[in-house]
Amino acid sequence: MFQDAELAAQVAHADFDQPNIARMYDYHLGGSANFAIDRTTAEQALRVAPTERDYCWANRAFLGRAVRILVTDHGIDQFLDLGSGVPTVGNVHEIAHQHNPATRVAYVDWEAIACHHARHLLGAEEQRVTVTEADVGDPETVLNAAGVAGLLDFTRPIAVLAFGILDILPTTDGAGLVARYRDACVPGSALAVSNNAQLTRTDQEVAGLRSLLVDTSTPNLHMRTPEEVAALLPGYTLLDPGVVPAALWRPDQPVTDHEAQRGNVYGAVGILP
Ligand SMILES: C[S@@+](CC[C@H](N)C(=O)[O-])C[C@H]1O[C@@H](n2cnc3c(N)ncnc32)[C@H](O)[C@@H]1O
Repeated sequence: MFQDAELAAQVAHADFDQPNIARMYDYHLGGSANFAIDRTTAEQALRVAPTERDYCWANRAFLGRAVRILVTDHGIDQFLDLGSGVPTVGNVHEIAHQHNPATRVAYVDWEAIACHHARHLLGAEEQRVTVTEADVGDPETVLNAAGVAGLLDFTRPIAVLAFGILDILPTTDGAGLVARYRDACVPGSALAVSNNAQLTRTDQEVAGLRSLLVDTSTPNLHMRTPEEVAALLPGYTLLDPGVVPAALWRPDQPVTDHEAQRGNVYGAVGILP
């Protein structure tokens, strides 16, 4: 368990005085890479939108299933994880390595604590896993970064992961952004996406969440409909069951519609023909 001062001392350039989405998400998932200001804001988020923690768990569980199925059913052994977050339960490389230990994973996030924590955790993994501190809204920089270009072989299929990121970037042109990553990928590559949605959230809850995010480094929250999520994957063939509440994307155990809706997140996975 990190103490705030210990964590702060390790990463001099973290934004200690501003709540941060990576660390709030970590707090909701039970992690310890967060500061008092993140915990306070995350608790406020739960008060304005009581399903916030359901969102985090549904999103994270969908990520785990998508990675496993891309490795086992589609033979993917390279991942580019955009906005990868603080390492937490069910990391991409851990899930992938259970099924193919040779899988390479390039994590990209711009949050200092998330990247520090990931590097700390990975230690000797650097032959197979890298952490790049960069803005995913700048694909050229990301694709040319040593941790990405030096690790992934773009002449072979790569899965681009965009979980919980396209909805918080400043641009509303998520499709245009992911297309720039898609254009670097060969046929057989994949794109997996999750996006915040308004399934059980009321307008008042969404407004409350937006007003809390204004104080963070990611003040945007773009809710998307299933049609708008499908539009994020142009050129890809969607895997069954298409765009669905994330908990209903190939669940490992039965999920009720109500449980799935409480996640307030859509998910989809596509393959580049
Ligand atoms: C809600 S978390 C999602 C984490 C993880 N992808 C998951 O779904 O479990 C969003 C992450 O995106 C990162 N992020 C937000 N804007 C970013 C940007 N412009 N460039 C890189 N990372 C960004 C945040 O720091 C945070 O770690």
